Amino acid sequence: MITTVVPARLNEDKTKLVLIDQTQLPTKEVFLELDDRERIFEAIKMLRVRGAPAIGIAAAFGLYVCANKIETENYAEFRKEFEVIRDYLATSRPTAVNLFWALDRMTARFDKEVGKSVSEIKVALLEESEAILAEDQAMGKAIGEYGLELLKPNMGLLTHCNAGGIATSGIGTALAPIYLGHEKGYNFKVFADETRPLLQGSRLTAYELNKAGIDVTVICDNMASQVMKEGKIDAVLVGCDRIAANGDTANKIGTCGVAILAKEYGIPMYILGPTSTIDMSTPTGKDIEIELRDEDEIGNGFGRRTAPEGVKAYNPAFDVTEARYITAIITEKGIVYPPFGENLEKLFK
Ligand code: MRU
Repeated sequence: MITTVVPARLNEDKTKLVLIDQTQLPTKEVFLELDDRERIFEAIKMLRVRGAPAIGIAAAFGLYVCANKIETENYAEFRKEFEVIRDYLATSRPTAVNLFWALDRMTARFDKEVGKSVSEIKVALLEESEAILAEDQAMGKAIGEYGLELLKPNMGLLTHCNAGGIATSGIGTALAPIYLGHEKGYNFKVFADETRPLLQGSRLTAYELNKAGIDVTVICDNMASQVMKEGKIDAVLVGCDRIAANGDTANKIGTCGVAILAKEYGIPMYILGPTSTIDMSTPTGKDIEIELRDEDEIGNGFGRRTAPEGVKAYNPAFDVTEARYITAIITEKGIVYPPFGENLEKLFK
């Protein structure tokens, strides 16, 4: 039985959002208990909680714990304040659609409770946020099972960034088939791109796979071509932050480069994610907003200068892999092959 850390949950009396502070990993496991909107916003923005599904879960719980503290019995006042908190949390990060998906879902639940008292609505919001968490756990397992159909024992697998348990609430998306295969004795050899500039691959993917006893080797991002050329990689498995209606996929910066390399070397490129990451209202990758982050993450990352003071750095946090580089998109509802435009649409029918 695989157990991974749940990155975002409620505390025992359901008044606070509990996060494992991912900026402290892999050296320290520090848990934060938050119930004010500014600290929750800061935690999402600064990647204390990160990974598209986990951001959605944290936002849903965050919205609930903040709404729960609103001191009024007046419906209109409560609704107004709920929307202020929701709109504020929605500006914490722009690319992962799960953030907006979760906040919209909380709003839709609120809308369903028309005519109920404020305390009844608070209970409904609690239920909705807990349902988002529970569904995410089930989704990871289903994604893992579909993903495993495409893999064989002893394969070498490359992953980028972290799309594991710590980015979701269960066994992850890209790492889910790896965990399930490991339980069956598949003996995968996983290569984790370290993922500059914030090192989600080496700090988080290596942390969780190593903890689970899975063979993992960290490589620098610029080594992927060499490792592929040496024949060590049979498939690339990555997560996603937003999949456009035509299959173009935003994921951690560097994913597109890995996909282009995979095509060159004839290696399948799999994107794994829940259907909540598919945004049918975004026609193509060009319509996805790419988060730009602080220059210091590059020139002064982790408190050490690696570029001269005053030198500019450009820091887009994501890139878009065009659909033509993607072999298949693996969701909890099944495996989607090209043409993605048509086949993603079928998934929602
Ligand atoms: O900036 P991050 O760490 O939130 O970026 C995370 C990724 O790019 C993940 O691959 C993606 O969110 C999928 S997580 C299941």
